[in-house]
Amino acid sequence: MNTANRFYITTPIYYVNDVPHIGHAYTTVAADVLARYWRLRGRDVFFLTGLDEHGQKVQQAAAKAGIDPQAHCDKLAPQFQALWKRLNISNDAFIRTTDPAHHSIVQRYLQELYYKQLIYKDDYTGWYCTFDERFWTEKDVAGGLCPDCKRPVEKLSEHNYFFKMGQYQDRLIEHIKQHPNFIRPESRRNEVLGFLTTQKLGDLSISRPKSRLSWGIELPFDKDYVTYVWFDALVNYVSALEYLVQPPAREKFWPANVHLVGKDILTTHAVYWSTMLMALNLPLPETIFAHGWWTVDGEKMSKSRGNVVDPNKMVDEFGADAFRYFLLREVPFGQDGDFVLGAMITRVNSDLANGLGNLLSRTLTLIERTQEGHVPAPGKIRAAERDLIQATLALLNDVLPNHLETQEFNRALEAIWQVVQTANQYVDKTAPWTLAKNESDADQLRTVLYHMAETLRCLSLATYSFMPASAQTISHQLGLSIDFNSPILEHRVEWGSLAPGTTIHKGTSLFPRIESKPQGAKTVSDTPTPPQPTTATPALTAVPPSPMPSASSPVPQASSAAQITIDEFMKIQLKTAKVLTAERVPKSGKLLKLQVSLGEGTEPRQIVAGIGKKYEPEALIGKTIIIVANLKPAKLMGIESQGMVLAAGDSEVRGLATILEEVDPGTKVK
Ligand code: MSP
Repeated sequence: MNTANRFYITTPIYYVNDVPHIGHAYTTVAADVLARYWRLRGRDVFFLTGLDEHGQKVQQAAAKAGIDPQAHCDKLAPQFQALWKRLNISNDAFIRTTDPAHHSIVQRYLQELYYKQLIYKDDYTGWYCTFDERFWTEKDVAGGLCPDCKRPVEKLSEHNYFFKMGQYQDRLIEHIKQHPNFIRPESRRNEVLGFLTTQKLGDLSISRPKSRLSWGIELPFDKDYVTYVWFDALVNYVSALEYLVQPPAREKFWPANVHLVGKDILTTHAVYWSTMLMALNLPLPETIFAHGWWTVDGEKMSKSRGNVVDPNKMVDEFGADAFRYFLLREVPFGQDGDFVLGAMITRVNSDLANGLGNLLSRTLTLIERTQEGHVPAPGKIRAAERDLIQATLALLNDVLPNHLETQEFNRALEAIWQVVQTANQYVDKTAPWTLAKNESDADQLRTVLYHMAETLRCLSLATYSFMPASAQTISHQLGLSIDFNSPILEHRVEWGSLAPGTTIHKGTSLFPRIESKPQGAKTVSDTPTPPQPTTATPALTAVPPSPMPSASSPVPQASSAAQITIDEFMKIQLKTAKVLTAERVPKSGKLLKLQVSLGEGTEPRQIVAGIGKKYEPEALIGKTIIIVANLKPAKLMGIESQGMVLAAGDSEVRGLATILEEVDPGTKVK
């Protein structure tokens, strides 16, 4: 099969028995990332998603709503489509199994198999649950109870049509053995192989008598029956190519490169669908990837528990890109994950706001202030620049392709954020705000700023598939108009495409920090989550934001304070620190967020200080101050502070404590 220059990716088609939830969003976002990525790589992509509108579940949901099943589907379908729009899903087609064209294709395939005598009529006897309206096998119904609803089951016989699935057992085992990537991840492949090699594969009932279920596609050879919903639904992957795209799409895109599915529907894909394709003489897909399931706060997600995560609420609270990022960053694709709102907030703040967002804002601020808003031409390059270039290009040309070719989204994101971190460390180390002070450092300053901006250009290419809107914002703010619809990753990326002289457009911040548990978050998951700290624990500045420091504060209090021994005083580690960056904490009049250095070879520290009424952030950059270095970290307005700044004053700051002479950051003060 030649799948070299096209890429066909599918999601399951979702039952329209209810509104979309996080599970639906998860697969669809993952498929979108692959679709976008392969378009950048120059492949002709066809990305299909849609709805499974027949069968018992949908009929029941419609009955419950008191409307006709078609009207029910027509009411719910736009909700899925609207969500995909909000999540920036770039599907090329949207299939609904009630489409008349899909009906005729399913009937054509059934007829073909019937002619080939691969479908036969037989008696079916099984244990039937009237409430769930489904059959169970002998081993399912321990104690004569339905394993699902625990109601008594009855033995029932009915005529049905069967597809001779069992005869393909050996061929399927062989196919799985010969194609290591056919079922992924490997643990799931082993599971499927395990049961295929130890149990006899039976034939598949592909009909339901209309007397029991009428909402489905009528069998072309017996009008008293409708098609079993899975036979109808699986055909969507091929039928869409016949009527939702221009010919010769079927020849061009079949077999699919990747069917993404949840682990619960792997058997229907790996076994039912594969044997159906064999019977129809069609090639098998390249990969069926089964991802894990999300629980919510450690519990199974269900309507009755009231903990269903609504993707629309997540987009409202965090934005589409942050939600997309979290879904794929938090859990290795293929494993189960637990959705905890607090973890989402932490990711947004640490990875997005402090990581990528901060890199963009400090780069643009410095270019604006020191280069009149134009990207400077780089001067002499040293080891620090060479390392940064090497890490960035390796990410785009080697690491990202490796991970995305194998659907390892979380590793791809981890690798991107390693480069974000490397770039932020490069900035901390080269300290461009200090270089800006000396004319003799002007050449080096230009070099540093150019490398920051060019790294960001590369990061926009790397992040685009995951966070398309943010990547476009980065490109725009850098003054570029990268055409993400063109195959920009078709060839290896080279360093230096960002032209010196480009005028930047600094705009609003890329990812605003989430200061506390967002309003309305409770409705996202009704299960109570531990309260998030919204106010600061101990005050962190010598002259703190209100209230006054508590008695347990290590800050020496006014003269009336109790005396302490020298040993007690010596427990307090005071050190000099150099201010690397300073910015205002949004919505706070007095708080500034500082990054300070305690000397070479140490990680910069973040300190939140209540000195914003006295000082403009810029005025502090490069200053050597004194901090309490061994103070237990605490949060102020949700932001971690790893130390405390010493300043003179009481309720009002009068002046920062500094050192008369120039001393290295990290020097002990006593
Ligand atoms: N209609 C069938 C699929 C037919 S494909 C030819 C179906 N639909 S579904 O709406 O019930 O489920 C669709 C997908 O949602 C499945 O892949 C399932 O694994 C996924 N999820 C449902 N709940 C989920 C979680 N809690 N977490 C992650 N995915 C989950 O099955």
